[in-house]
Amino acid sequence: MLDKKVVELLNLQVNKEFYSAYLYLDFSSFYKDKGLDGFANWYQVQAQEERDHAMLFYQYLHNNNIRPVLEAIDKPAVPMHTLRDPLVAALQHEEYVTGLINEIYGAAQEVKDFRTTQFLDWFVKEQGEEETNANDLITKMDLFGEDPKSLYMLDNELKARVYAAPSLVL
Ligand code: FEO
Repeated sequence: MLDKKVVELLNLQVNKEFYSAYLYLDFSSFYKDKGLDGFANWYQVQAQEERDHAMLFYQYLHNNNIRPVLEAIDKPAVPMHTLRDPLVAALQHEEYVTGLINEIYGAAQEVKDFRTTQFLDWFVKEQGEEETNANDLITKMDLFGEDPKSLYMLDNELKARVYAAPSLVL
C-alpha cells in the first residue's frame, strides 16, 4: 500500500505532466504560426514526451492498485511576444517540474517507500536532461536569433528532432 501523501503527489503529477504537454503544444503552435517549423517540431515532440511522462505516473498508480483521479488541465497562459519568450518559460517550467519530482521523492523517502524512489530515479535524470536542453535552446537563440540566416539554420537543426518512446517501461 502506498502512503496517502505519496499517492496524492503522484496523482497531482499526472495532471502536471499533461499540463506540460499542453503548454509545449501551445509553444509549438506559436512557432508554427511564425513560420518556424523546426521550433514547432521541437515542442511538438516535447509535448509527446510529456504525455508519456503523464502516462508513466498513471500506469505506476494503476500498478499499485490505485485509480488515478483525472483533474481539469489548466489553460496554458504564458505570454509570448518574442521568439525567446517560450524558451525562457520552458526552462522555468522544467525547473518547477524538477521541484515537483523532488517533492514526491522526499515524501517517498520519508516513509521508506523505495519502490517509488526507484520509479522516480528515471525522472530525476530526465529532468536534468530537460533543463540542459532548455538552457541550450536559450543560448542558441541568444547567439543566432538576431540573424535571419542563422535563425533559419537553427530552425532546420530543430526539425531533425524525432519522437522516441521513453526508455522507462513499467
Ligand atoms: Fe515531464 Fe518536461 O518534464
